[in-house]
Amino acid sequence: MRLLSKRNLLFVLCCFCLNLGVAIDTITSSQSIKDPGSIVSNGSAFKLGFFSPVNSTNRYIGIWYSNISVFTVVWVANRETPLNDSSGVLTISEDGNLVVLDGKKEILWSSNITNSVANSSAQLMDSGNLVLQEKTTGTIIWESFQHPCDTLLPNMKISTNIRTGNKVQLTSWQSPSNPSIGSFSANIQPLNLPQVFIWKYGSPYWRSGPWNKQVFIGIPTMDYQFQDGASLINDQEGTFSFSFTYVNGSLLHLAFNTHGNIEERFWDYEKEDWEVSLALQSGCDLYGNCGAFGSCNSQNTPICSCLQGFEPKNTEEWNRGNWTSGCVRRTQLQCERVNTSSEGSKMDGFLKLNMMKVPDFADWSHYLEADCRQQCLENCSCIAYAYDTGIGCMSWTRSLIDAQKFSSAGVDLYVRLAYSDLVTKKDMKKIVTITVIIGTVSILICTYLLWRWIAKHKARKKKDKEILLFNRGEAHKTLPSDNLNQVKVQELPLFNFEKLASATNNFHLSNKLGQGGFGSVYKGKLSDGQEIAVKRLSRTSAQGFEEFMNEAVVISKLQHRNLVRLLGCCVEGEERMLIYEYMPNKSLDAFLFGMEIVEFRQHCSINRPDDI
Ligand SMILES: *[C@@H]1O[C@H](CO)[C@@H](O)[C@H](O)[C@H]1NC(C)=O
Ligand SMILES: *[C@@H]1O[C@H](CO)[C@@H](O)[C@H](O)[C@H]1NC(C)=O
Ligand SMILES: *[C@@H]1O[C@H](CO)[C@@H](O)[C@H](O)[C@H]1NC(C)=O
Ligand SMILES: *[C@@H]1O[C@H](CO)[C@@H](O)[C@H](O)[C@H]1NC(C)=O
Ligand SMILES: *[C@@H]1O[C@H](CO)[C@@H](O)[C@H](O)[C@H]1NC(C)=O
Ligand SMILES: *[C@@H]1O[C@H](CO)[C@@H](O)[C@H](O)[C@H]1NC(C)=O
Ligand SMILES: *[C@@H]1O[C@H](CO)[C@@H](O)[C@H](O)[C@H]1NC(C)=O
Ligand SMILES: *[C@@H]1O[C@H](CO)[C@@H](O)[C@H](O)[C@H]1NC(C)=O
Ligand SMILES: *[C@@H]1O[C@H](CO)[C@@H](O)[C@H](O)[C@H]1NC(C)=O
Ligand SMILES: *[C@@H]1O[C@H](CO)[C@@H](O)[C@H](O)[C@H]1NC(C)=O
Repeated sequence: MRLLSKRNLLFVLCCFCLNLGVAIDTITSSQSIKDPGSIVSNGSAFKLGFFSPVNSTNRYIGIWYSNISVFTVVWVANRETPLNDSSGVLTISEDGNLVVLDGKKEILWSSNITNSVANSSAQLMDSGNLVLQEKTTGTIIWESFQHPCDTLLPNMKISTNIRTGNKVQLTSWQSPSNPSIGSFSANIQPLNLPQVFIWKYGSPYWRSGPWNKQVFIGIPTMDYQFQDGASLINDQEGTFSFSFTYVNGSLLHLAFNTHGNIEERFWDYEKEDWEVSLALQSGCDLYGNCGAFGSCNSQNTPICSCLQGFEPKNTEEWNRGNWTSGCVRRTQLQCERVNTSSEGSKMDGFLKLNMMKVPDFADWSHYLEADCRQQCLENCSCIAYAYDTGIGCMSWTRSLIDAQKFSSAGVDLYVRLAYSDLVTKKDMKKIVTITVIIGTVSILICTYLLWRWIAKHKARKKKDKEILLFNRGEAHKTLPSDNLNQVKVQELPLFNFEKLASATNNFHLSNKLGQGGFGSVYKGKLSDGQEIAVKRLSRTSAQGFEEFMNEAVVISKLQHRNLVRLLGCCVEGEERMLIYEYMPNKSLDAFLFGMEIVEFRQHCSINRPDDI
């Protein structure tokens, strides 16, 4: 059924109310609405009138949005008692009640106020509220906002009184074509921490999580949806009520769909349709889907897992995907053990689970965060706690039911576990893996170092061997290693090449004492008669020289303690020579090795052959 045009509406109204000048948003005893008439609220936001749901010929009195292109009913009067023809009338009865009459003038529906009022009228407000009030005093005696159907409009309340148990709640339609009360209801459950619940045939179906003065912490998307417009209030008479506001002419409401899901509908003026988001977004939102001590994560397959430290109560059932039996604790808590024989066992601890929908049945206390933990730790019946600045300290003593892991928002939940369960198999796996990796890497490094050491050692041995070839027997003896520091460095005179050439008879072969990888040693006699040994470094490649220098350092550590005296050096052109005092009793290695090379560098200012 579509909206009536304004002209039709006026026509209908004029048929019933000849009294001119009366507002078209009001019903009185003298101005009723007869099917198919309707009235419009003053700001044209809502209409009240007769309608038929899709695929139905039954007639109902309802309120719907008047300005939008999608027919959206927000309230129904006679939802349980439809008219089966178009003979219905909405009017004010003699006792002041708002009533729906059928063709036989029998009351199908009534506002049901008991104290009769002589003069009353019902006005459709621009908020969508139908208000019955006493004309003379203006006292409100009944309003549709107090009797919601499946829709919560801005400024409408659902509430529960903890003393009387009176509830103002939403109830679903049976089907899109039948507005009578369906299987779902939504209301406030005012336990320790009030929450909104959806019930299916009276069993919990979904819960919002506790209110933290701004949002329900079990609805991760609520932050930006309501933009501070929502409130949960506890008045002095023990009534907890939830409502929200919305400004700027935007259209927003919460309503049941017939699957029992609550839709938040926001009118998109451009698309000319409702933008819908759902309270239940995944199987994880079904109350207690994973059973006691289970945790639901919609990102996982399967979505249910036991909390750390717990295991399925019935593994076979659990693996089949029937999670109703939930999980049980793996290791008894230390604080629960009566048997003190296991004295060595360690204290229980808390496992932190972040971004959680906290379990149901939280107890509340005024403690601050640190005390919250402490008081839970001290009381063995406390099996978990959580802290939220807007709520305070929450703790649990029963089973943990309806916990969920979010991918954003949520709070940190601390679950008490026996010490041995704080480290999970997963963690153990991690630890083992890390240990294996570190071990492997260490072994590899050690192997590499060892290999290098062996390689070096071999190289050194090879060089030693080379040198030994030249040593003629004595250098292999073990020798002290600190010669280097004991050598007295002195300024050495420079010898000229010709003098040395003549002293050695032009380095005659007959004067040659020996030969090494770095050069030859000659015996000579200076003009003053002093006998000398001349070590003439070979003129081969620069590399040879450098190699020699390196070797010299190594060899120096193996050198004989009593070095022969170094008389001087000679640097001319490419020639580099060291001149020693000749001592016939010394073995040749004394002339050949040791610190002379260092001395040569220091005294003769030759660092590298290319400097020359
Ligand atoms: C409609 O509301 C306006 C103010 O918003 C008021 O001036 C006017 O009298 C109202 N009309 C009727 C018929 O009540
Ligand atoms: C509904 O339409 C009327 C007239 O077109 C307009 O004045 C009024 O502001 C509209 N109300 C809403 C809630 O959009
Ligand atoms: C209305 O009835 C038609 C035909 O039986 C069906 O295809 C359609 O889904 C129904 N609409 C609703 C909302 O139930
Ligand atoms: C509905 O229609 C039947 C006849 O088809 C009639 O007997 C009955 O009284 C009507 N019920 C109502 C509530 O009008
Ligand atoms: C009105 O009250 C009567 C008796 O108290 C009850 O049977 C009936 O369902 C009520 N009707 C409505 C619409 O609340
Ligand atoms: C009802 O209201 C009208 C005017 O609005 C008044 O004349 C009449 O006396 C009232 N009746 C009662 C019983 O108060
Ligand atoms: C609502 O109005 C306020 C100012 O009154 C403005 O800051 C805000 O952006 C508006 N919100 C929307 C959704 O239009
Ligand atoms: C799941 O397990 C519970 C408890 O054992 C049982 O009562 C229920 O029938 C099972 N549900 C299904 C669908 O198998
Ligand atoms: C305590 O533990 C010991 C061994 O751990 C066991 O033999 C004994 O039966 C236990 N006593 C109780 C009361 O559980
Ligand atoms: C421990 O917690 C339980 C349940 O909250 C409470 O009844 C009991 O008094 C507490 N015990 C102590 C020693 O605080």
